[in-house]
Amino acid sequence: MSQPNGTSPSLWLEGHHAPVPDEIDAVGLPVEGTLPPELTGRYFRNGPNPLPGTPSAHWFTGPGMVHGVRLRDGRAEWYRNRWVRTTKFTDGARFVRPDGTFDHAAVPANTHVVPHAGRILALVETGLPYELTPELDTVGPCDFGGLLKGGMTAHPKEDPVTGELLFFGYGLVPPYLTYHRLSAGGRLVESREVEVPGPTMMHDFAVTANHVVWLDLPVVFDMGLARSGAGMPFRWDDAYGARLGVMPRAGGPVRWFDVDPCYVFHVGNAYEDEAGRVVVDGVRYRPEDFTAFWPSIGGEGDTSAATVANAPSRAAATGSSRLHRWTLDPASGAVKEEPLDDRPVEFPTHDDARTGHAHRYLYTAAADAIVKHDLRSGSSAALELGPDLVPGEAVFVAAEGARAEDEGWLLSIVTDRAGQGSELLVLDAGDLSRTASVRLPRRVPAGFHGSWIPDPAS
Ligand SMILES: [Fe+2]
Repeated sequence: MSQPNGTSPSLWLEGHHAPVPDEIDAVGLPVEGTLPPELTGRYFRNGPNPLPGTPSAHWFTGPGMVHGVRLRDGRAEWYRNRWVRTTKFTDGARFVRPDGTFDHAAVPANTHVVPHAGRILALVETGLPYELTPELDTVGPCDFGGLLKGGMTAHPKEDPVTGELLFFGYGLVPPYLTYHRLSAGGRLVESREVEVPGPTMMHDFAVTANHVVWLDLPVVFDMGLARSGAGMPFRWDDAYGARLGVMPRAGGPVRWFDVDPCYVFHVGNAYEDEAGRVVVDGVRYRPEDFTAFWPSIGGEGDTSAATVANAPSRAAATGSSRLHRWTLDPASGAVKEEPLDDRPVEFPTHDDARTGHAHRYLYTAAADAIVKHDLRSGSSAALELGPDLVPGEAVFVAAEGARAEDEGWLLSIVTDRAGQGSELLVLDAGDLSRTASVRLPRRVPAGFHGSWIPDPAS
C-alpha cells in the first residue's frame, strides 16, 4: 500500500511490531524476583512474523510465529521461537485454489495458541488449526479426522464444567457461519450451520452455561477487495446493521438483538444473570474508531497520512476501543448497553474457570499499562509501565486451590517500544504487584494471543 506523501504506513512492521529474522533457542533465562514454583509449564504466544524482506499487506496476514517460555520449579528453563510451518509458509500454498475452491490448510496460523485434549493448536480464523508439539515443532494441520471442512476461530471457548471446546468457523461463501463442538476428549461431535445475513469478519463469540452468543457486526467480506488482492478483504458497511444473537447450546433458533453499530474483536466473558438475561462484556469499537483503526493496520479505508497519523495510539495493538457491556433480555427482547470503562484497552482476559459464568474481574492491555477491572465495584486499577513499554495480552493463571477469583498471576510479554528487548512479566493478579520478570534473550514483537499450558499432573 503506498502513501501519498511517501511515508511508510506499515506500522505493523516497525518498532515494537517489527518481525524478528530467525528462530533461536536459549536456556537458563535470568529472573528478577521469585517465580512461583507452581508456575510449572509453558507460556506460548502467537503473532504474525513475516520473513525478512517479504511484504505484508496487513497486520493480520503475516505467518504465525510462536514464542515459548518454559518455567519449572521457580526457574525459567528456556525460550524458543518457531514459525508455524503451514503449507502456506513452507510451500507457498494459496488459500484460493485455481479452481476457486479454498485450501483451508494454506493459512498463516498466526493468532492464538491453545491447548485442548492433549493437543496444542495454533489458530487463525480463516483456516484449519495446526498442531504443535510442546517443543514448538509443527505436527501439521488438524481437521479432526476429516470432519472439519472450514475455518476454526482463533477464540474457541473451553467449557470449564464439561471440558468441551466450543468454537465456530465463518465462511466467505455459504455456509457463512457454522457452530462446532469438540468433546472433552478432542472429538468433533457437533457441527451446526447458523443462518446469518452475509459473510462478515467474525473474530470472536461468547458462551454462557446454556447459550452461544454471535457477533453479527458490520465488517463485511468484499469480493472486489478479494479480487484486488487485499490482505484482508473486509470493510466497514453502514448498511449491514449490527446485532447479537443468542442461540441455545442444546439446539434451537437464534434470537437476534439489534445493537448500536460497532465492532468487537474480543469478548471478555459472558454469563446468564439471575433474571435469565445474557450479559456480554467485550471491547467495543465505535464506527469512527474502527474506520480509523482498520486502515492503520493495512485494511481498506482512508489511508491518507492524516488518518494514519491520527489512528489511535499508532500502536495498532490498542486502538480506541473500550470495555462495554450488553445485557440481552430474551423475555422482553430488550437490550441494555453501557460502557464499563473510559480507558482504551484491548485483549480482555479472565479466569478461564469462569468462562460462561459470572465474573467479577477482567484484565486488559492498554497502550502502556496492564489494567484490572473490578466490574462489581465499577473501579479499575492499573500497572502503569511508562511510555517506553508495551504490554501484550495478560493471561490469568489461577493459583492452586485459589479461593478468590483474582488469586493467581498475570503473564504478559512486555516489549520496549523502540524495539530493544522484551521480558515475560509475572504479576500478582490481586494487587498487580510484580512477582517476577524473566528477561528474554531477544525482542518479541507485539503479537496477539497466548496461553499458559501447565505440565500434566504427575
Ligand atoms: Fe483475537
